[in-house]
Amino acid sequence: MKDKYKKLNKIREEAKLGGGEKRIKSQHDKGKLTARERISLLVDEGSFEELDMLVTHRSSDFGLDKQKILGDGVVTGFAKIEGRPVALFSQDFTVFGGSLSEAHAEKICKIMDAAMKIGIPVIGLNDSGGARIQEGVVSLGAYADIFLRNTLASGVIPQISAILGPCAGGAVYSPAITDFVFMVKNSSHMFVTGPNVVKTVTHEEVTFEDLGGAETHASKSGVAHFAYESEIEIFENIRKLMSFIPLNWKDKPHERKFDFDQNLSVPALDEVIPDSPNKPYDMHKVINLLLDEGDFLEVHKSYAPNIICGLGRVGGLSVGVIANQPSVLAGVLDINASVKGARFIRFCDSFNIPLLVLEDVPGFLPGTEQEWNGIIRHGSKLLFAFCEATVPKVTVITRKAYGGAYDVMNSKHIRGDFNYAWPSAEIAVMGPKGAVEIIFKKEIDAAEDRNKKLEEKLSEYIEKFANPYIAAERGYVDDVIHPHETRLRLINAFQLLKTKVDSNPRKKHSNIPL
Ligand code: HXC
Repeated sequence: MKDKYKKLNKIREEAKLGGGEKRIKSQHDKGKLTARERISLLVDEGSFEELDMLVTHRSSDFGLDKQKILGDGVVTGFAKIEGRPVALFSQDFTVFGGSLSEAHAEKICKIMDAAMKIGIPVIGLNDSGGARIQEGVVSLGAYADIFLRNTLASGVIPQISAILGPCAGGAVYSPAITDFVFMVKNSSHMFVTGPNVVKTVTHEEVTFEDLGGAETHASKSGVAHFAYESEIEIFENIRKLMSFIPLNWKDKPHERKFDFDQNLSVPALDEVIPDSPNKPYDMHKVINLLLDEGDFLEVHKSYAPNIICGLGRVGGLSVGVIANQPSVLAGVLDINASVKGARFIRFCDSFNIPLLVLEDVPGFLPGTEQEWNGIIRHGSKLLFAFCEATVPKVTVITRKAYGGAYDVMNSKHIRGDFNYAWPSAEIAVMGPKGAVEIIFKKEIDAAEDRNKKLEEKLSEYIEKFANPYIAAERGYVDDVIHPHETRLRLINAFQLLKTKVDSNPRKKHSNIPL
């Protein structure tokens, strides 16, 4: 019997070597870790249980029958992160460049199917030369098998992708369908066609990094939600992300122990809003003061920074924060901000994560560039996402809430559960100057001293509209509160809303304006 045990150990050792020492060294020389090293850094120590370690491909073309490597270029299985279960796959670049064969895809599909039944997240560590060229259309079909599962799993279980090497051609669409894409700077790339094809077709000269590197996708295209300097930082932050989210769509939002008896007043919040309504301030300060321990995982940090999205905790409960950022473009809503916000809201709503909205928005960005590129179509995504969301939704208007943006940013009218305003709030159809120049145009033009009249009308308008009290009279805000009371009020609101039940009409699915 001992021989049989020995044989198994030998097979396992062989499988663990993947494409062999030489290719492992080459992987390390590129500053990359191996598939198994990555798993061990990502999950709780000793928790990984591998499946399908002994799977090999079934191809014989181009001499492949003589090159069978155990595992066929992907390590798959189940593990724990902070004691909670996850399914994962990690592509092994040392085996045929991590390329996707029929057998390789079957392994990924197997753990995805199981994760769906069990109700646990899938984490994919991608490092692959794409479709296994020798397998031709079979590998394309195998990709499609994964795309279908990514789509069917969307909104059922969280799906997280880390891009840790090349990711090209149609292969990019699997991570793109998942909820969050992490990229590592300088050694990961995503593009539909690489620099050589780009040069042939459009005559543009572009480097790999500029075309599809982490910085590009984190700041220009929005494909990557997170970009980090090293793989280790990626794994730390995937673990952090996991600490905020539930395991599946039926799971409750993640909650940590919280001491409700502590002093929850935050006097520093009273100092945040500048005296002049046109002076910017950093909404991160507000977020930092409102969240437990200021602990915030910002999503799409470098993309559309005029809106801030991310995960944090209020009174121990995970919440998704969507906040206008007055220090970037005055917090205006443009196309990218709308799409970013909408996608994040839909993630949170899919997985029962309550929404905290911090509002200081002068409106939607005017101009031909925005109009011609469809600010109407894209802005409506944000509106649609807020309207459709049935999770607990709490808004705090810190300063401006003007025009359509007032409605869009989780107003009471679109099912905001608790809507608070600070005394500095200005809630109106538009800002004082624009409004006065329209409604008092004739009066101002006819005045002997035009500027004096303008000033007079401005103060009249500001006195009447640039405050939260008309909205409060109507019940459009539930209360006007001091900034220092906000953290306590939010904690109470989210605790109360834990048992909230709301739903949308029965339908096949909605038709969000894409
Ligand atoms: C089979 C592949 C492979 C592939 C790489 N290899 N890509 N084998 N199919 N797609 C193998 C190489 O032969 C080599 O084997 C090993 O992996 C490492 O590759 P290198 O080229 O030496 O590595 P590197 O210089 O780092 O370059 C990595 C690379 C390059 C940029 C990924 O290999 C490359 O361009 N590969 C092809 C990428 C591609 O065009 N794929 C198809 C995309 S389209 P040895 O034995 O020497 O170690 C696609 C369609 C998906 O994927 C459609 C879904 C709908």
